[in-house]
Amino acid sequence: MKIDILTLFPDNMNAMLHESILGRAARRSILELNCVQIRDFTENRQRQVDDYPYGGGWGCVMMAQPLKSCVDHVMARAPGLRRRVIYMSPQGKTFTQQRARELARDYDHLVLVCGHYEGVDERFIEACVDEELSLGDFVLTGGELAAMAVADAVCRLVPGVLSDAACYTGESHWDGLLEYPQYTRPETWECREVPEVLRGGNQAEIDRWRRKQMLLRTREKRPELFANFVPDEKDRALLAELERDERRMKLTEPLECRPATPEDLEAVDLLIRQARNYLKRHRVDQWQGDYPASEDMAASIAAGECYVLCYAGRVAAVFCLTMEPQANYAAITDGKWRSDGPYAAVHRCAVEAQFRGSGLADRMLAEAETLARSRGCSAVRVDTHRYNEPMKALLRRCGYQFRGHVLVEEPIHDPRRQAFEKVLRT
Ligand SMILES: C[S@@+](CC[C@H](N)C(=O)[O-])C[C@H]1O[C@@H](n2cnc3c(N)ncnc32)[C@H](O)[C@@H]1O
Repeated sequence: MKIDILTLFPDNMNAMLHESILGRAARRSILELNCVQIRDFTENRQRQVDDYPYGGGWGCVMMAQPLKSCVDHVMARAPGLRRRVIYMSPQGKTFTQQRARELARDYDHLVLVCGHYEGVDERFIEACVDEELSLGDFVLTGGELAAMAVADAVCRLVPGVLSDAACYTGESHWDGLLEYPQYTRPETWECREVPEVLRGGNQAEIDRWRRKQMLLRTREKRPELFANFVPDEKDRALLAELERDERRMKLTEPLECRPATPEDLEAVDLLIRQARNYLKRHRVDQWQGDYPASEDMAASIAAGECYVLCYAGRVAAVFCLTMEPQANYAAITDGKWRSDGPYAAVHRCAVEAQFRGSGLADRMLAEAETLARSRGCSAVRVDTHRYNEPMKALLRRCGYQFRGHVLVEEPIHDPRRQAFEKVLRT
């Protein structure tokens, strides 16, 4: 790519153009960048480039002749190239990444003309200019900054200038979206952490998170861009997920964890029913028989082993916690428990549908751990079905580790469960 910038101030421009990435590409002959002094092409002894405007008014206008002679000169030095003469002007079309892509793709030689003063004689534009480009809806004193911006944006898209096309194809405005947020070391800076997913090393998860962030921040920061963005199937799925995230209940009031009473049984049964249906919908063969029946919950309430979490006066979650050693846990296979002291077992967890994703389930486990600790337990143990992904994700998120397999009594249905444990810090 060859770029000639026609200007009255070539020295400053040259210094900037030959620095850093563009400078290195020019030294490797991938780019040829020149700043040409328009004044060198005047035909008067004073080397005058401007004159008063016909019709009166403020300032001076750049004359057509030196501009045309300058354009002719740079064109003669580069015959046969696919060329575009562009006048930098606040009256042009606004320059965009899309236009930068087209210019990099369709031309080998750009001639960028910088006006000054009141602008240039209109006849020069008519005779010599292919296109006018504006940096935005504001007026600069000269076209130099605009020409620099166009040269920079176009040149970085020329093959070989950046190390890989991925350097720019993932950036803002490439496909109508803004880029995802970026982070570098250190991991924690002024109490602000780099998002967990970026530290986890799972590239598929990272890519998914980043795409979601691109959609989210474009929608928030640049709604007018987002309105023109056409999402594909994957993006539509991510957008639906974002909407679900936003609909999720935010916990703004205090939660109360207390032992359930017989008066809570109706609400508790409802939560168990909701959870059973949820598991059925997700084809998890757990709780698909009678267990846990209303009688089981009533018995746990009577034994003081059933707890409810109440939010804004209503029962929002339930769990059972027992300090009784579990016979089936003693027969763990494919692994072993880590703790050997007294432990608490958590069973029959259910969160009201409306609170899913609100963080309530995490709080429920935290409450169970507090209760277990207060009773001298050194660990909490939980089992769940291997296909119960939300429960397994919750357990992992809350620091539980997979220990092996246990069997539960659910005749007809799949009795195998994955066993998790969290050793409690004292
Ligand atoms: C003061 S301006 C002239 C503005 C002109 N009288 C008008 O009102 O349209 C001087 C020069 O700066 C450049 N310029 C000013 N604003 C610009 C913008 N937004 N984009 C690109 N070039 C600009 C043009 O080259 C222009 O000839």
